Parts: sequence; C-alpha cells; structure tokens
Amino acid sequence: MSETSDLLAAIAGTGRDTVRGGYSRPVFGPAERELVEWCAGELDRRGLQPETDRNGIVWAWWNPNGAPLEGAVVTGSHLDSVPGGGAFDGPLGVASALRALDLLRERGVDPARPLGLAVFPEEEGSRFGVACLGSRLLTGAITPERALALKDPDGNTFADVARAAGFDPAGFGRDDEALARVGAFVELHVEQGRGLVDLDAPVAVASSIIGHGRWRFSVHGQGNHAGTTLLEDRRDPLLAASRIVVAAREVAAANPGTRATVGRLQPVPGGTNVIASRVDLWLDVRHPEDVVTAAVVAEISRRAAELAAGEGCTVEVREESFGGTVDFDPALAQRLTAALGGAPVLATGAGHDAGILASHVPTAMLFTRNPTGVSHSPEESCTDDDAELGSVALADVLADLLA
Ligand code: GLV
Ligand code: MN
Ligand code: MN
Ligand code: MN
Repeated sequence: MSETSDLLAAIAGTGRDTVRGGYSRPVFGPAERELVEWCAGELDRRGLQPETDRNGIVWAWWNPNGAPLEGAVVTGSHLDSVPGGGAFDGPLGVASALRALDLLRERGVDPARPLGLAVFPEEEGSRFGVACLGSRLLTGAITPERALALKDPDGNTFADVARAAGFDPAGFGRDDEALARVGAFVELHVEQGRGLVDLDAPVAVASSIIGHGRWRFSVHGQGNHAGTTLLEDRRDPLLAASRIVVAAREVAAANPGTRATVGRLQPVPGGTNVIASRVDLWLDVRHPEDVVTAAVVAEISRRAAELAAGEGCTVEVREESFGGTVDFDPALAQRLTAALGGAPVLATGAGHDAGILASHVPTAMLFTRNPTGVSHSPEESCTDDDAELGSVALADVLADLLA
C-alpha cells in the first residue's frame, strides 16, 4: 500500500453497485455525499476548512501566509461516478490532491500563493445528462434555468434534488468571485485509455481533450401487444432504434478518428410482451475536429430519420450538450513537464471539469497510468505505486506553481 492508496482504501466500500458491479455514485445520492463528507473530514484533519459554494463545489484553502485567495493554484476532481464505474475515475484526483498537500507540507514548501482543493459535483453527467454540471454552472457555460430543469432518470428535476440535498436553487449560476480565486487549475486523473501503458510511463501531462457531445434520439412508434400484432402491422421503435445504433457505428467508421457510442437506450414502457411506443437513446460522439463531430451527428440524424420511416416510426433529435476540443494552456503544460523533469504528453478522449475551466483560467492535467486501459468499468485500474507516483508528480508541479 502507499499513502495515496490508503486514502482510497478508506472509501473502497462506499457506493459499490452489487447489481452492475463496480461503483455507482450519482450526484447528491447517499454514496456521493458520503464521499464528499469523507473528503471534508480529511480536509478538516489537515486543518483546512472545507466550504461548499452555491453551485455545490467544495473548496478548501491551504494558505499559511494569509495571502488573498484570488489567483490561487487549485487542484481537485470529482466524487460522482458513472453507473457501474471504476474506483479511480474522480476519487484518484481527490486522494492525490490530499496526498500532494501532505507532501508539500512534509517538504516544508512555503507557498507564495494559496493552494485550493476542489471537488466538483456531477462531472459525469450520469444523473442529469450534462457532464461537468458544477464547473459549467460556476463558469456560466450552462444557465441556471436550464440546469435546474434537467431531470434524472426518475423524473426528479435538478432543482428538487439539489433542494433536498440542502442547496438553494436560486443560488446556482455563474460565480465570478469563486472563479477569480482560481489562478491556475491542475486536475490529476486516472488515464482512461492505454496511452501510458504503451509508453511504459507512470504519469503524463495532458495536451487536449477531444470535443464531444450528447444527443438524445426519441423514436416514436406504436405501442402494441407482442402476441396479437402481426409483423407487417408493427411500428416498432426499438427495431428502428437498433438500426440507428448500427448506423452510428457505420458513420463513425467512415469518418476516421470518430468515436460514436450508444450506451443508454430506454424502451417505453419496457415490457417483455409489449411492443414499445417510444425509445429514447443517447448518442455520444467525439472527434478532435468539431466540424467532423457536427457532420457525423448530422449524417447519423439523417440516416435515423430514414431508418425510423422504414419502420413506420418518427424520430426527434435533441442536443443535450456539446463542448468543442480543448487545448490546454501550452505554457502551463510545458511548465508541468519541466517540473517533472520530462513526461509524456497525451491527448484524451475523456471529458473533465478541467476542460470547462480551461476557457477561463490556465488549466492543466496529469494522468496516472491505468494498466488495464479500461475506464467507466469495474476493470479500471491503477497500482498502489503508480497512485503514489501520481501524487508525487502532482506535489512537484504544485510546488513549482506555488513558488
Ligand atoms: C466523462 O468521463 C466522459 O468523458 O464522458
Ligand atoms: Mn472523471
Ligand atoms: Mn468518467
Ligand atoms: Mn470525465
């Protein structure tokens, strides 16, 4: 065990999903809140006073010299998860932030600027559909009106769920004062692919995040009886939806570098002996060039309309979120690389709050090797040694930025 993995071991039992495997920690649910409490306790034990802001972001400041908070160096990540996710996506960045703080203190670092630790809510967008909701609210990348009206899969609005979690819905929205405190943001994250395995290196500096978005396709047909409806009489939206899933793959394959995924598909009402009346499916499309993403989605939408018509159905397409490709601040990435005495530089196809903050403040990321190369799955991995190396690397770059 290492100190970083000791921190993770303390939360290994929280939010386990006995049905799907792995972890399910929807934002503002009991497991995610338990981890937020755990993090607050760890900050408290270190003499920091965690505070949750009006957008649900937890902040704490190490500021031994009483400097103004404006322009601080901030590090952190998230504690919510996808359904059936791994142990490291989010929590590794939070545990490493705590460990890096300990290392800075052990090294006797005297910070010229404050160090902030931050935990963002709903990074995954697993509950309300829009990823990085906390950082989008903070920066004004989503309006509070739109955010508050978002619904979870049970039909609860973000406003109601947030209220039940103790937040005032009227408080959500752009917060320039909070943003002004962030002079630079560095997020450490488990790598979500095989880049570092292939490079045989424990830690990388991020260059960019591939642009990505989510679109909801609602396919409308005729709900009916599975036994009495002849095949030729059916208008089955699930059949049309199945063809749309295949078309998404075909269009992606015809546009090299595209990732198109349908990971969620919901027949309504959803009964074994019921032909669905509607199917909602969610398409996730990513490509380094935003024009390609737009063209791919347009082509999939065109084919979806055709395929739906072929089954006597109709389809509505709605964009739920989109964020263009983000290139992290090259000077900051360079500074991180130098502070580490050299490190590989990697792009990623995964989204992060760092990608939202990058439009507002100099932002950088570190990735820690994931031996399986698998993420958003229980098989996501990180060795104890690499987790510690990641924290040491984070401490190295923070020491440089705080000097
Ligand atoms: C979140 O991790 C995403 O990339 O969708
Ligand atoms: Mn993450
Ligand atoms: Mn994730
Ligand atoms: Mn993510």
